[in-house]
Amino acid sequence: MKILLLGKNGQVGWELQRSLAPLGEVIALGHDGALGLSGDFADPESLAATVRAVAPGLIVNAAAHTAVDKAENEPDFARALNALAPGVLAREAAALGALLVHYSTDYVFDGSGSTPWSEDATTGPLSVYGRTKCEGEERIRASGCCHLIFRTSWVYAARGGNFAKTMLKLAAERDKLTIIDDQHGAPTGAELLADVSAHAARMTLANPALAGTYHLAAAGETTWHGYARHVIEFARARGIPIQVAADAIRPVPTSAFPTPAARPLNSRLDTGKLQRAFGLVPPPWQQGIDRMLEEIL
Ligand SMILES: NC(=O)c1ccc[n+]([C@@H]2O[C@H](COP(=O)([O-])OP(=O)(O)OC[C@H]3O[C@@H](n4cnc5c(N)ncnc54)[C@H](OP(=O)(O)O)[C@@H]3O)[C@@H](O)[C@H]2O)c1
Repeated sequence: MKILLLGKNGQVGWELQRSLAPLGEVIALGHDGALGLSGDFADPESLAATVRAVAPGLIVNAAAHTAVDKAENEPDFARALNALAPGVLAREAAALGALLVHYSTDYVFDGSGSTPWSEDATTGPLSVYGRTKCEGEERIRASGCCHLIFRTSWVYAARGGNFAKTMLKLAAERDKLTIIDDQHGAPTGAELLADVSAHAARMTLANPALAGTYHLAAAGETTWHGYARHVIEFARARGIPIQVAADAIRPVPTSAFPTPAARPLNSRLDTGKLQRAFGLVPPPWQQGIDRMLEEIL
């Protein structure tokens, strides 16, 4: 089976190159394309020719406009990447009879309440990013293609920059830190997303009745403040020089750090549907973070 992977250089795309390899021949494209094939989501229709040329049995889309604040100033560009291009991929997947795997976000919700969101909860995005990701989902569902949409949250990877690396740098330089403590969610590793995607894609290819929208995140919950404390105390326990004292990592509300795009306060995702459908159990968020810290420290 041929597998077309788009967005191969992102956090999740990089891990998918590894996790999809045992499933078939992976043709992996970045935004600049390769082999005469376009991978440019800014030109959504160019992706139709790519899908037709490759004729894959599985399409995995890890590309997106993920710069949440920047998206507020370039809504048309964000919509091309997050909504129109996935729509073209879905249309072509439907024509080919291919399975499309796509990623979405907790930002499709308005962040109200404190209950974990289920897949059928009403969406209410607060930002351009959230609205365009929501439209991308709707276009995929409307296309009639066999699809898996995984909504996830707070994605990190060892490769490239991430929140934990930023916290470690600040904790080594500063006497005190102020970190947001009223956004709740679960940091989810790109490795976990890629591994679950490969398992679920294989099962859905064998049983298309499994197709649909699923919430996929690590188990448990924290806040950015809890996340930062966990990272800093892990590093301190490993003997890494840390300047900030544990009680000088101060919790503050989101309003202390105004940003162009509003963030949902409740990003908790209920993963029960995924667990029941695929027999997979997301590990506690600390497990993936500790593994990533072992790699980077
Ligand atoms: N990051 C999070 O916290 C988070 C949370 C919830 C859901 N998600 C979703 O999870 C998925 C994967 O996210 P991620 O964290 O892996 O994202 P990422 O690391 O920001 O990667 C995004 C990818 O999109 C590519 N891209 C940007 N512009 C493009 C264009 N014009 N044409 C084609 N590709 C383009 C980038 O390629 P270049 O690097 O080559 O430009 C990059 O490979 C996305 O659907 C995202 O919405 C992410």
